[in-house]
Amino acid sequence: MRSKSINFQQTSQVVDRRQQLEQWLHQCRTGTLELFESIDETTFCHQAHSEFSPVGWHLGHIGYTESLWLLERQTGIKPEFPEYRRLFVADGLPKSERVKLPPISEIKTYLEAIRNKVLLRLETVDLEQEERLWRWLLQHESQHTETIAFVMQLQRWHDRAPVGASWQNLTTQNKFTVHPALNSSTVPANCLDSEMVCIESGEFTQGNDSIDALDNERTAHQVCLDTYYIDRYPVTCGQYRAFIEAGSYQNPTWWSKSGWKWVQSGQVTKPLYWSEDHRWDNHPVCGVSWYEADAYARFVGKRLPSEAEWEKAAGGDCTYPWGEDIPTENHCNHDNTVNQTTPVNAYPVGQSVYGCYDLLGNVWEWTSTIFEGYEGFASYPYPGYSQVYFDREHWVLKGGSWATRPWALRSSFRNWYYPDVRQILAGFRCAKNK
Ligand code: AVJ
Ligand code: FE
Repeated sequence: MRSKSINFQQTSQVVDRRQQLEQWLHQCRTGTLELFESIDETTFCHQAHSEFSPVGWHLGHIGYTESLWLLERQTGIKPEFPEYRRLFVADGLPKSERVKLPPISEIKTYLEAIRNKVLLRLETVDLEQEERLWRWLLQHESQHTETIAFVMQLQRWHDRAPVGASWQNLTTQNKFTVHPALNSSTVPANCLDSEMVCIESGEFTQGNDSIDALDNERTAHQVCLDTYYIDRYPVTCGQYRAFIEAGSYQNPTWWSKSGWKWVQSGQVTKPLYWSEDHRWDNHPVCGVSWYEADAYARFVGKRLPSEAEWEKAAGGDCTYPWGEDIPTENHCNHDNTVNQTTPVNAYPVGQSVYGCYDLLGNVWEWTSTIFEGYEGFASYPYPGYSQVYFDREHWVLKGGSWATRPWALRSSFRNWYYPDVRQILAGFRCAKNK
């Protein structure tokens, strides 16, 4: 079993920073490869959904990106495997043409060859110049690992779910062993009903200027918010069931205009990863689009929080809701350890100073904020990373899921997707004005 403790402690000594990067590169890669342990070639190349590439493509793209940014762009050396460029570059082939892949073993060999050169280079690289880039690369792999994890889940769902099968059937066939946090019988679902915390008006720091901050998190800035209420927990399946049972998927009242169009055109009647089993009542609802989150909030007389409201509720000025301690298995459900959702009150250690639970890990949370750059935005390392998505068609998600790697887990981290996407591991919590 791999150790889940990632040592994020900063040291000023360059030699320690080198060792630390080496250790992180290794830990990050181990977690990525673990997902491929028992995969077959067909699943490796299969496109589970038109929005997402086959998992095998993501693996190749991880290696290609590492080679591009840590070798070719820095040293000017020619790529060792030029034939992979067209296949694995992000803006190359359309997703539907990414299904003709080399065998798994060949892609693994490719990754290893790149990694050996990268480690060699790490011995002498000027980290004063390049540390941000190396840390960006870890976050790049981390994000693709998460995509691999949820695409694999989606694949299992499609493969095994006969009509009417519950999500429970699927996840119990999964490799997960019973985790203490999964004991959902400890608190009855109705005790979690509509608990909100009040956050008094005032300033907090939004965004992040640390070396790990991605281009879209910069620059950190003061934001002043009026007093508001925000849910202590993400919305649970038990709570969401009332919305379904009230016939809300057949009732335009709660939906935005575009949301109602979306429901009708897709004949949607429940979240994607839904189970009728009441044992999931204390778990967060997972597999909802922004439209469903927005409609549910209206149904209960609330609204989605803005990104700033979410981030302030997470404690604002600290890296994590609980402070500066590096994330462990005790803080939140992340890094594919549990491999599914946990009850929303399972991690009291992870709560924020305002008493909000489950802000990091478990499920991503939709916000009412459109993805845009902060003032002073400067794209890094290329405009295609964030800037091309400032099109007012993507919504911000916060907090990470059970599949988020520790390198991409922090309160200031911003994820973004179209409002109709529900394959990602997303839920939400609600807010309201005072
Ligand atoms: C921020 C998760 C939407 O996976 O498309 C990976 C991250 N950018 N490679 C994505 C990303 C370039 C991005 N998301
Ligand atoms: Fe990428």
